[in-house]
Amino acid sequence: PLVSMTEMLKKAKAEGYAVGQFNINNLEYTQAILQAAEAEKSPVILGVSEGAGRYIGGFKTVVKMVEGLMEDYKITVPVAIHLDHGSSFEKCKEAVDAGFTSVMIDASHHPFEENVEITSKVVEYAHAKGVSVEAELGTVGGQEDDVVGEGIIYADPNECNELVKRTGIDCLAPALGSVHGPYKGEPKLGFKEMEEIGNITGVPLVLHGGTGIPTKDIQKAISLGTAKINVNTENQIASAKTVREVLAANPEMYDPRKYLGPARETIKETVIGKIREFGSSQKA
Ligand code: G3H
Ligand code: ZN
Repeated sequence: PLVSMTEMLKKAKAEGYAVGQFNINNLEYTQAILQAAEAEKSPVILGVSEGAGRYIGGFKTVVKMVEGLMEDYKITVPVAIHLDHGSSFEKCKEAVDAGFTSVMIDASHHPFEENVEITSKVVEYAHAKGVSVEAELGTVGGQEDDVVGEGIIYADPNECNELVKRTGIDCLAPALGSVHGPYKGEPKLGFKEMEEIGNITGVPLVLHGGTGIPTKDIQKAISLGTAKINVNTENQIASAKTVREVLAANPEMYDPRKYLGPARETIKETVIGKIREFGSSQKA
């Protein structure tokens, strides 16, 4: 069923695993991620960036595509459709009105008081419709679509606590050294801050930039209260490699199903690997 993230993440935090947010870029990503989650009997979050939403046709198309696939594939595991890095109250409202079950308001680049104000407004609107809300503090490095991290700024634990208490958000993404896209060298995650933020806020934490984080760091993050991990680039790299290989081996090929089908298989395998690594298999 289509659900918000609230119960999913509470259960994950209580039982010591994380639910994956896998970003959808098109139909094949959506198919692959839903199939992977169902095969693993795992809850799953479909991340939709504003750019991906535009590419697919709009938020309404996203919701109808997901609903159609869930019916045709007879999906039984909990699925959330989540706006990734929502840039304004208006964008979050648009997603909620279109039928998204969860939104992220990323007002992290605004001054703290403005972040609190915008996030509160989103929570008020979303919660009235049973939609969950994620917010962010600090700056994730790298770039994803329109979201450019200008250097990495670590989230401040006291501000995190205040943001959670004053807004009533369901989960929090404190930027603690993670990066969108591939890492240059090993990531240096702020585990001390993560532990403190997890303890004082009490809400499930979200780890952005899941691509390229070593398994030991993933496990440590989960043990410190991280209950949601976002992955996009890893699926993009793996599926693009498959397309390149298939087309290189078959220069006469032109039917998109013949190269996007194998790419979809690659995404499914990649997502299954992540679900197992995050520990959410058989948790649906
Ligand atoms: O919001 C989406 C994620 O943080 C994705 O990060 O592309 O580095 O896996 P990634
Ligand atoms: Zn992100």
